[in-house]
Amino acid sequence: MKYKTNAQRRNLLKFAGFTLTATAFPGILQAMDSRIKSTASANFHPDVEIELKMESIMMPIFDGPRTRIWKVYGEVLKGPKQSVVNLNDTHLGPILRFQKGQKIRIFLKNDLHAESILHWHGLHVPSKMDGNPMYAINHGETYVYEFEILNRAGTYWYHAHTHSVTAKQVYSGLAGLLIVHDQEEQSLGLPSGQYDLPIVIQDRTFNRQNQLVYANNMMQRMQGFLGDQIMINGQPDFALKVATRPYRLRFLNGSNSRIYKLAWDDGTPLTVIGVDGGLLEKPETYPYVMLAPAERIELWVDFSNKPVGTELSLKSLEFSAGGMGMMGGMGMMGGMGGRRRMGMGMMGGGMMSNSTIPNGSDFSVLKVRIDRKEQGKEILPKQLTKITSLQVSNAANPGHPRTIRLSMRHMSALLNGRSYKMNDIRPDEIIPVNSLQLMEFDNGFQGMNGMAMPHPMHLHGEQFQIINRQVNSRHQATYATVSKGIISSGWKDTVLVMPGEKVTILKPFNDFKGLFMYHCHNLEHEDMGMMRDLLIQ
Ligand code: C2O
Ligand code: CU
Ligand code: CU
Repeated sequence: MKYKTNAQRRNLLKFAGFTLTATAFPGILQAMDSRIKSTASANFHPDVEIELKMESIMMPIFDGPRTRIWKVYGEVLKGPKQSVVNLNDTHLGPILRFQKGQKIRIFLKNDLHAESILHWHGLHVPSKMDGNPMYAINHGETYVYEFEILNRAGTYWYHAHTHSVTAKQVYSGLAGLLIVHDQEEQSLGLPSGQYDLPIVIQDRTFNRQNQLVYANNMMQRMQGFLGDQIMINGQPDFALKVATRPYRLRFLNGSNSRIYKLAWDDGTPLTVIGVDGGLLEKPETYPYVMLAPAERIELWVDFSNKPVGTELSLKSLEFSAGGMGMMGGMGMMGGMGGRRRMGMGMMGGGMMSNSTIPNGSDFSVLKVRIDRKEQGKEILPKQLTKITSLQVSNAANPGHPRTIRLSMRHMSALLNGRSYKMNDIRPDEIIPVNSLQLMEFDNGFQGMNGMAMPHPMHLHGEQFQIINRQVNSRHQATYATVSKGIISSGWKDTVLVMPGEKVTILKPFNDFKGLFMYHCHNLEHEDMGMMRDLLIQ
């Protein structure tokens, strides 16, 4: 086997567009240089070796015509067979199941007639294994990933991360779950096997020929794509059949831009045991939980005191998404200036949404039917794990947080006023390796800031901790519609930053030098440029 590299992209090595010289920042050289390497290395000894193939196929999803999707198929070449579970009736890629400490080699083969690359969302891997858009491969090419699973047990995922077309490619199907197990988690005796269930929530729009619709018009780009139909695990009419026993449900919001406010329709509170980076220290109870694109939560759900035949529905409740949601008017009445009002007018007057289910409206996400009696032995542990809280005093910059200002103006979505550009590292985007950084996302917390929209902000690399949230007075009313469902504990890689909010985090940058991205995970915003690289050196 021979694995070609992409000569065309290799030319990017010539640093077109670099604002700094390589001699001043040799780390850039190193990071850039490594992208050429796309062959299996002789001194890496994988425990698990798999092939993932991306291809365009017709899939029977509805009655009638098949649906054109882009699909990831997996195959285990070496190691445990359960490392790859293909899902043959959906657009979703296989569920990858790894064990902490395993060495993984993945041959990613591109059979699409488009360039693409996969990123392992939430995993702490070397820069060149992280699926930066600069590593995209063309039709017929293979990219070889080699990394060790350093993350603790948790619900991670992977998805396409291709320059300016990530949203379209994820929408077409290039995404899947990546679940990590470890001994600590396994010793807790949580529900496992068929009682440990992934729930991937996505929204899609299909036309009468059963084909995916992705219009990419201005409204859709500014607000983010919103589909007309909620899909669970890639299925249009998903109903979960459960027994009268406890379950562990792992939720991923794999939607391009839709934010969910998850709650049971009978008012039962949600028992959250995990977030993006794995288990929480202790179970936490919420009346509802906000789940923004790319965020994960794990719920402990005990159906044992409900009679067989009970039907439940997990809903998304009404909330205000700021300027542009269902209840967007609310935000406007909350005392915003004339400038913002003008911004709204530009969006097309009464047209408040590009979907029949506007963001922030009330709809059913998942139907659950209790269909059999069964005794479960599992007991919800009082303590799930020990999480060391990161200390501001240990940060490299305790008194000077690195501020990332989020803004949307006219047709652009920006970070610190900048748009994404490959190989465009600015001095404030350089971070010393093995440092802990105090960072803050400012979504119009200070002053007016164009259109107020929620932004789910994500950083590649290691998981971080949220240490503070502040909302300015103008946005209190909007925030009150989501505040009881915001989880700030545990390890996170994506954080929802609401309009008028400032979120402060502590993020470690250990072990790996090179480029790691930070961006809005509203995928339309990301493709519009709300994404940048950090250079760790
Ligand atoms: Cu899931 Cu760069 O993102
Ligand atoms: Cu990521
Ligand atoms: Cu955004």
